[in-house]
Amino acid sequence: MSKVTQIGHPLILHKLAFIRDKKTGSKDFRDLVSEVSMLMAYEVTRDFQMEEVEIETPICKTKCNMLAGKKVAIVPILRAGLGMVDGMLKLIPAAKVGHIGLYRDEETLQPVEYFCKLPQDIVERDIIVVDPMLATGGSAADAITLLKNKGAKNIRLMCLISAPEGIKHVTSVHPDVDVYVASIDEKLNEHGYIVPGLGDAGDRLFGTK
Ligand code: PRP
Ligand code: URA
Repeated sequence: MSKVTQIGHPLILHKLAFIRDKKTGSKDFRDLVSEVSMLMAYEVTRDFQMEEVEIETPICKTKCNMLAGKKVAIVPILRAGLGMVDGMLKLIPAAKVGHIGLYRDEETLQPVEYFCKLPQDIVERDIIVVDPMLATGGSAADAITLLKNKGAKNIRLMCLISAPEGIKHVTSVHPDVDVYVASIDEKLNEHGYIVPGLGDAGDRLFGTK
């Protein structure tokens, strides 16, 4: 069964308040999404395996823990997921990045796929799918299905703002996928937008409305 983790760190919640504010312009919005993604990456990678290595300090030899050569892929769902990549790469610089292009049809709210480019060795990698918004959950669930169809096994999902409906959908379709969010908001409105949410993440990131 999926583990759902709400990362309510004070720094994340503080920045999230600015992200939600309609007065926040695209440049600040982008910077804040990147910063929150970096802070969340710290928690999302908490269970990464360590190995003991011997190093030598200027004083003596000692044993230290280092990451056990894990191969990671960050997979943003286009467009809005792009805003989370730089922040994640600050903490996991060796990660490769795959891209999945999906947009939500405004009438049906169903995700439509238009792009997919993944690292060749995606099957061997621990994958973190990123998207700021988990609304109905259709886009995230479809992106994860696409990854599984390519042979990916170890997948986790990281979103900034989620609706209870989206969490329910993704975790029921993909019970093997753990979900990390900064906020679980109240509900979806009649247009499928998260309430209170932040509006349209892609438009706010890229200034397209
Ligand atoms: C937004 C968001 C998610 C999706 C969430 O993308 O970034 O991908 O909606 O909604 P869902 O959980 O109901 O599927 P959108 O389709 O607006 O595309 P964009 O990022 O290109 O703006
Ligand atoms: N996509 C967004 O960008 N915002 C929402 O509230 C829901 C879906």
